Amino acid sequence: MNFHSYNPQDGHGLKHNPFKALISPRPIGWISSRSAEGISNLAPYSFFNALSETPPLLGFSSSGRKDSLRNIEATGAFVHNVAGHELVTQMNASSAPYDHEISEIEMLGLATLPGDVVDVPRLAEAPASFECKLVDIRQLEDHKGAKLQNYLIIGEVVRVHIQERFIQDGMIDEAALAAVGRLGYFNYAAVSDIFALARPKL
Ligand SMILES: Cc1cc2nc3c(=O)[nH]c(=O)nc-3n(C[C@H](O)[C@H](O)[C@H](O)COP(=O)(O)O)c2cc1C
Repeated sequence: MNFHSYNPQDGHGLKHNPFKALISPRPIGWISSRSAEGISNLAPYSFFNALSETPPLLGFSSSGRKDSLRNIEATGAFVHNVAGHELVTQMNASSAPYDHEISEIEMLGLATLPGDVVDVPRLAEAPASFECKLVDIRQLEDHKGAKLQNYLIIGEVVRVHIQERFIQDGMIDEAALAAVGRLGYFNYAAVSDIFALARPKL
């Protein structure tokens, strides 16, 4: 077998960095937040995942000090909205670099509902939304301890909303949800080939 091997600090030697294409599909955190001045904000983050089940923790990382990070620092709260296949166009549109004073939610005309627990709007059309209280914001470092311009934001889920049409017999209808994941480059994937594997028993 032949390998293309490289040390990331020296470059990858390919046309485009393969990192995100190989760590994929990544779930997309579609993060709503509110500024200290009360302006709502919405943006997608694919350096995002569930970090723990009990209690449920979610985390995402911001490359630089973006509006979501600034808002969450100021208010201690955010909401993760599941995009699903039906909302990918709006999800992508919400990534445009609007000024801090502009609400992507208002610009895109997205309907919202107020959070029950946190003072952050959630997207009414999202198949599910997770209201989160901030646990930690950590400026990431490399293995030598040098500070990076990347910030990991961790929130604890304090309230969950699921559209009932995605619940069948007490389980999430994952085929109907058609969760969307981020691949590399400009690519995305929607879940369409679902299979089950039983956990092994010793
Ligand atoms: C699917 C997708 C995933 C993204 N993931 C990230 C990410 O993980 N981290 C990041 O800093 N920016 C990411 N971006 C870019 C941000 O969404 C973009 O910079 C946005 O303007 C940030 O908005 P904010 O300043 O309102 O927080 C992503 C964009 C898209 C379309």
